Amino acid sequence: MKQQTSVDERFRENLARYGYKPCEVDVGDITFQAGQAESVHRWYRLTPSFAPAVVRFFVDQFGAGPSSLVFDPFAGRGTTVIECQKLGIPAVGFEINPLLAEVASRSLIWRPRRSKLFGRFCDEVDRRIRDARRLAVDDLLRRTGASLPDIHHVFRWWRPEV
Ligand SMILES: C[S@@+](CC[C@H](N)C(=O)[O-])C[C@H]1O[C@@H](n2cnc3c(N)ncnc32)[C@H](O)[C@@H]1O
Repeated sequence: MKQQTSVDERFRENLARYGYKPCEVDVGDITFQAGQAESVHRWYRLTPSFAPAVVRFFVDQFGAGPSSLVFDPFAGRGTTVIECQKLGIPAVGFEINPLLAEVASRSLIWRPRRSKLFGRFCDEVDRRIRDARRLAVDDLLRRTGASLPDIHHVFRWWRPEV
């Protein structure tokens, strides 16, 4: 009679068959929590996410690189595709939940294009700051109607010409 094996035993057998060595890990290192300390991953908190370190582990295991194509059929908030983009590895993710698909897609845009209007606004702010820098403090205060806060020993820290 074939002996029943537990899920745990079969898991260990499979690990051994494919050459993986089981190791103890802190659950906080492989769940979404670890991602909260990493750029982009922390933009959106999805508790069923895995940690970016999990992606790095498998990238390393499979020797994936710039000429590979990583595929995550259950992309969630995009941990795999985000981490691959950080590592310069092409990746594609499928996600059935439209909100998560949107979050993941947006998380891959790191150089937002400035709209024309926003661009003009930034240029105007920039111009005003440059103009203001040319004015003496008294002129600036007069023009803007602002007042200087009463800072104790202010000229001990900042010289008048500054
Ligand atoms: C556990 S989450 C994956 C989280 C992901 N590893 C991450 O770090 O963000 C599983 C995801 O699979 C998605 N999903 C389930 N069935 C799917 C299907 N048939 N096609 C695409 N995505 C699916 C779910 O919406 C869910 O977001």
